[in-house]
Amino acid sequence: MTTSPESGTAATVALRRALHEQVGQIVVGQTAMIDATLVALIAGGHVLLEGPPGVAKTLAVNAMVRACGLEGRRIQFTPDLLPSDVTGTLTLRGGELVFRSGPVFTNMLLADEINRTPPKTQAALLEAMQERQVTVDGVAHPLPEPFIVLATQNEIEFEGTYPLPESQLDRFLLRLTIGYPSEEDERRMLSLQHRGATPSDVAQVQPVISAADIVAARATADAVVVSDEVAQYIVSIVRRTRELPSVALGASPRAMVHLLAAAKATATLAGRDFVTPDDVASLAGAVLAHRLVLTADAELDRFSPYDAVATAVRTVPVPR
Ligand SMILES: Nc1ncnc2c1ncn2[C@@H]1O[C@H](COP(=O)(O)OP(=O)(O)O)[C@@H](O)[C@H]1O
Ligand SMILES: [Mg+2]
Repeated sequence: MTTSPESGTAATVALRRALHEQVGQIVVGQTAMIDATLVALIAGGHVLLEGPPGVAKTLAVNAMVRACGLEGRRIQFTPDLLPSDVTGTLTLRGGELVFRSGPVFTNMLLADEINRTPPKTQAALLEAMQERQVTVDGVAHPLPEPFIVLATQNEIEFEGTYPLPESQLDRFLLRLTIGYPSEEDERRMLSLQHRGATPSDVAQVQPVISAADIVAARATADAVVVSDEVAQYIVSIVRRTRELPSVALGASPRAMVHLLAAAKATATLAGRDFVTPDDVASLAGAVLAHRLVLTADAELDRFSPYDAVATAVRTVPVPR
């Protein structure tokens, strides 16, 4: 059966609405995180959620995994976690060495508090994300499809955390920085059903997406049209990040490709089969900021990578 672009985007819009409805039963706000996860699922990328402790990063991801109806697993990253605890190990079975796959072999992986584990274990996960396979003893074991990592990190730097290096942050399609909720949202949270200090039950959330829905949503996003003007807009913004005096390392061509992929997926969430300059501008911070390295001077001035991206966007003319 062939579907027209309009019915394709209508289906994606319906998926989005269903996800917001389900997750919204137990999570107040966090709508950007829901959209980001859907964009990453469609574009085949991964999401990093950053924020202070206690703003429902873990709860929201758990709810998303359940609403997506895909197989999900969670790894709590701790200082003593080993690379093989993530990827798997060779074990002896009946006198033969066989590969026992680790928790990374799943559709949606919640990588919780990823900056609490040492670099070697982080690298094992990031390599699997990049290559979509795990190689043990020269044998490649492909990960399932779809495969998406939703990683969280608490931004307050406690003793004994290991910040991800920029070269590895590049693996994430999107980074979302979650702040404290509005006063109204905090009031709404208190009216959710809680039993004592136990959060609302994730079991309330119904699975509303199937693997086939994701395949269809990907096909719809692939068919999204990007005008020459919008493509040039993306190129110009990315190149501008490399020219800013505050930036030591600008966005890479990989970042540029990611920006386009995220923009196409975002267009379908809005029910369009074409990318607008606004899709690009509104995503630029989430796609580009975590890949920039600022100069020491800019850091001292408390200039942030988000500020740098905003400057790049502001100084490139918007196509009309
Ligand atoms: N936006 C929110 N909506 C609903 N409950 C929330 C929200 N923010 C915080 N909470 C409450 O606070 C708890 C802490 O959330 P958690 O996911 O563990 O935070 P984090 O992973 O960001 O440290 C949740 O289980 C829930 O009870
Ligand atoms: Mg948490």
